[in-house]
Amino acid sequence: MTARIVQITDLHLMADPLGELKGVCTRTNLQGVLDVLRRDFGSAELLIVSGDLAHDELLETYEVLREMLAEWLPKLRVIPGNHENRGFMRQVFGERVTAVGDRNVFADTIGGWRLIGLDSQLVGEVRGQLGESQRDWLARELAAAPLQPTGIFLHHPTLEVGTGWLDEIRVEDADLLHELLPKNRQVKFVCVGHIHHEMMVFQKDVLMLTTPATSVQFLPETDRLIPDPIPPGFRVFDLEADGSFRTRVVRVPLQLVP
Ligand SMILES: [Fe+2]
Repeated sequence: MTARIVQITDLHLMADPLGELKGVCTRTNLQGVLDVLRRDFGSAELLIVSGDLAHDELLETYEVLREMLAEWLPKLRVIPGNHENRGFMRQVFGERVTAVGDRNVFADTIGGWRLIGLDSQLVGEVRGQLGESQRDWLARELAAAPLQPTGIFLHHPTLEVGTGWLDEIRVEDADLLHELLPKNRQVKFVCVGHIHHEMMVFQKDVLMLTTPATSVQFLPETDRLIPDPIPPGFRVFDLEADGSFRTRVVRVPLQLVP
């Protein structure tokens, strides 16, 4: 049976309900995305939020987000981005976060698949880092289910996307992940956020998918951050027990209130 999961990323929510990032009200955008999720994807078995939940990193913002995601709580998973407070994330989302050392991760089994969330936050930096203890945890998780198709989610890209300023802020120790993959052929994809646009990169035998933000969009292949006026979006996966899958990005055109 097909298992459907949904990923949203880069919410950049703020305690101020009118708070904007690069001219985009992040709360309005997120609400528009959640309305479409409720209408068209409410049967999804898992909703993964892959980082940059709280742009202002305030407890109040995480509490607002928990309310906005209330109907998804039983099937919600959250992992950190660079704009994050891991302690508040644990405090507010409780059992929806698995603590391994100082990292907020998850590992679930759905539809015959293993879905693993990594914590790539390097506190105080925009770039990401996995660290050796998290690599060891991941190695154990992969070794425990070598025959189950697996998808890995994290915030920061592990491969270059071809945009210089974004490639400088990817995971700095991505080899810790990539070195595990040839021995773990059950890993079918790595899926990230952080760059605020959609891409598919296949390098080093790794398929990396990137997902647009629910907030502001960034133009690809630029020498600096340039907002892109295309609508926000999210990613849907349909996972088959034989390890095959389909994935697509859904865009959510938002009507501006006059
Ligand atoms: Fe972001």
